Amino acid sequence: MKVVIVGTGYVGLVTGACLAEVGTEVVCVDVDAGKIVRLQNNMLPIYEPGLQEIVKRNQQDDRLLFTTDLASALPGAEVVFIAVGTPPGEDGSADLQYVLQVAGQIGQLMEHYLVIVTKSTVPVGTAVQVNRAVKESLDARQLILDYDVASNPEFLKEGAAVNDFMKPDRIVVGVNTTRARHTLEQLYRPFLLNGHPILFMDIASAEMTKYAANAMLATRISYMNDIANLCGLAGADIDQVRKGIGSDPRIGKHFLYPGIGYGGSCFPKDVKALIQTGREYGYHLRILDAVEAVNEDQKKILFRKILRHFDGDVRNKKFAVWGLSFKPNTDDMREAPSLVLIDSLLEEGAIVSVYDPVAMDEASACLGNNVTFAEDMYSAAENAAAILLVTEWNTFRMPDWQRLRKTMQSPLVFDGRNIYDDVQLIKLGFTYYGIGKANTTVNALIQ
Ligand code: UDX
Repeated sequence: MKVVIVGTGYVGLVTGACLAEVGTEVVCVDVDAGKIVRLQNNMLPIYEPGLQEIVKRNQQDDRLLFTTDLASALPGAEVVFIAVGTPPGEDGSADLQYVLQVAGQIGQLMEHYLVIVTKSTVPVGTAVQVNRAVKESLDARQLILDYDVASNPEFLKEGAAVNDFMKPDRIVVGVNTTRARHTLEQLYRPFLLNGHPILFMDIASAEMTKYAANAMLATRISYMNDIANLCGLAGADIDQVRKGIGSDPRIGKHFLYPGIGYGGSCFPKDVKALIQTGREYGYHLRILDAVEAVNEDQKKILFRKILRHFDGDVRNKKFAVWGLSFKPNTDDMREAPSLVLIDSLLEEGAIVSVYDPVAMDEASACLGNNVTFAEDMYSAAENAAAILLVTEWNTFRMPDWQRLRKTMQSPLVFDGRNIYDDVQLIKLGFTYYGIGKANTTVNALIQ
C-alpha cells in the first residue's frame, strides 16, 4: 500500500517512518524546502529516540521518500494523512487554516479515490470542514471523484513515540464508510499483532477521544499537584500518598507524579482548545478551567520555595538548573516549566547556569545570552547557591553528592520531580526541598 503524509513535523515524521518500517510505501510532503533537503540527507528536525535509524533504513530501501511536491506524491496512493500544525489561536481554539489548506490542495490534485485522514489534533467537526474543502476544490475542477474523510488521532508520547507507534495501546479510527474502514484496517494490520486493538467509531467521537484523553491526563497531573501542595502544608508526603492511592486499580499507578506542572506541545494546547470547544457549544468545562489554573500556579512552585528559603532575596546568587526540556528524552522546549522558573529568577536578579543533556540548542533559542550554558551538570553547580532539578533525565538521578558539596556555595537542592532520596540527602548535609513533602516530616524521620 502507498500512503502520502502531508506535514513532516513530529507526528507526520514518526507516522511516516513507522509505516515505512512495516513495509508501506510512504511519501512525506512538506512546504519547507530546506527541511525536505535536510530530511533527504537524514538530518531530522527533532530528537526522538530510535527515529533517525528508522528514517535512514527506510530511505535506503526506497520505502520512505521526502518531497515538496504533493502533485507527484499522490498518484497510486490509497491514503493521505494530514499531519500539519494546528497552533492555538488567540482564544485558545485550534487554528485549522493549514489543515484546510492541505485539504483544498488534495482536492485540486487528486485523480482517483483516496481516504483523506486527519492525523493532526483537530476539534470535533473538523472532518466536516475538511470534506467541504476537498469538495469545493473538486467542484472548481468540475470533477466528480469518490473519496472518504476519516479521523485517526495519534497518542504518541514524545521520547517514546516510535515505541508507542509500533506497539499502540489502541488505534482510534473515525470513519463513515466501509470502504475507508477496510483501507485503514489493511494499513494498520501489522500493528495489531499481540492484541493491540483498532477501535472504529464515528468521526466526531474519534476527534473527541484525542482531546478527552489528553485533558484527562492533564487533570490527573493538576489534581496530584494540588494534593501535593496540601501534603506539603499538612505534614504528609505525596510520594507515599501516591503509592497509597495508585494501588487501587480504578485509579492506577501511572501518570500520578507531582512536579512543576505539565508542559509540551499537547496538554496546554489541547486543554485550552477543549475549553474553547465547550464554549462554542455553550458548555462550560469547569474542571478544565481549574486544571489550567492549577498548572499555571504549579510552574511557579519551585521559584516560590526558593524565594521563601532566601527570604525574598536571590540577587547575585547563582542557581544551577538541571534539565530544560519539558520532560526527559526530548529536546522539546515548548511550554517547558524551566522557562517560567528561569525568567522569574532572572527578574529577581539571580545568576542562572543551565545544563540539559539534549535540549541545550533548542533552549538557547529561548534563553539567549541571559544564562550560562554549562558543559555538564557539575560545572553548572560550581559555586551555586542551589541545584534546581527541573527535568528528570536519567543522568541526574545519581549525582556525586560529595563532589557537589565541595564545589557548591551551599549544599541546597530544590527537587522539582521528587527523584532524590530526601533522607539520604539530608544525612549528607544538604538542605532538601521536594514537591509535596513537609520538611518537618523529613526531619522527624532522620532523628
Ligand atoms: C502527551 C500524551 O501523553 C500523548 O498521548 C499525546 O499524544 C501527546 O501529549 P507528551 O506531551 O509527549 O504526550 O508528554 P507526557 O509524557 O504525556 O507528559 C506531559 C507533561 O506532563 C510533561 O510536562 C510531564 O512532565 C508531565 N507529567 C507527566 C507529570 O507532571 N506527571 C506525570 O505523572 C506525568
